[in-house]
Amino acid sequence: MSDSIIKLRNLKKVFGTKEILKDVNLDIKTGKCTAIFGLSGGGKSTIIKHIVGLLKPTDGEILYNDIDIGKLEEKELREVRKDIGFLFQSGALFDSMNVFENVAFPLREHTKLDEKTIQQEVMDKLTIVGLDASRVAFLNPDELSGGMRKRVGLARTIILNPKVLLYDEPTSGLDPITSDVISQMIINLQKETHTTSILISHDINETFKTADYFAMLYEGVIVEYGDLEHFKNSKLEIVQKFLNGDSSGVFN
Ligand SMILES: Nc1ncnc2c1ncn2[C@@H]1O[C@H](COP(=O)(O)OP(=O)(O)OP(=O)(O)O)[C@@H](O)[C@H]1O
Ligand SMILES: [Mg+2]
Repeated sequence: MSDSIIKLRNLKKVFGTKEILKDVNLDIKTGKCTAIFGLSGGGKSTIIKHIVGLLKPTDGEILYNDIDIGKLEEKELREVRKDIGFLFQSGALFDSMNVFENVAFPLREHTKLDEKTIQQEVMDKLTIVGLDASRVAFLNPDELSGGMRKRVGLARTIILNPKVLLYDEPTSGLDPITSDVISQMIINLQKETHTTSILISHDINETFKTADYFAMLYEGVIVEYGDLEHFKNSKLEIVQKFLNGDSSGVFN
């Protein structure tokens, strides 16, 4: 088996007349965490949405275990999606459902487990993400703090024990300490379950602690890729400007 469970090959995405992804090539190493850095609006979330088949490419391939996700029918995509947990940028919980039902939702959609097992699984995952399961299970999303919502979102993301986890801004909007708790949780999940993950975050220091490999998306192309040492020592001006928060010359 290849050492990369996901491979993006010449991925191109055009929205209207805007070419957001020009020619993205990236291998996501199995069992490791890969971070994607880039400017706001650069297309990071767009990449992730292609991996779960929410967007179809204009051109190129999204290979998952050497199957081209971009060419699958909806029915086959559902099978692939069972393997992939996606923590949305917006945190997106269903407001009409309580915490328990939010976390149980993928189990009801994708499995035929009995109610008792569903209950065990949900309470177990709520505990793993550091929540007092019996206290929060019957709260509604609008009764939760931002950090609790992220945790509930994370519990829902891991409920099917996915092989791949996609984190889109898991710590945005959280205070530095709660951010660190969530990052630690991501690291622990990685260690315990050896999942493959992709992390998108604007928090450079947290990402450096969490990920194994780092990619820089700029002007629709992955311009830099490597481990921490390699990335930090990149000779590319855009990478150094990004790491130092220096906008001079970046937006013309
Ligand atoms: N479904 C869509 N239809 C049209 N344009 C879209 C669509 N999805 C994204 N875009 C555009 O593509 C560009 C890239 O968006 P994307 O959300 O991927 O950026 P991002 O790198 O995740 O940014 P951020 O760091 O702010 O989250 C933006 O200009 C956005 O408006
Ligand atoms: Mg985004």
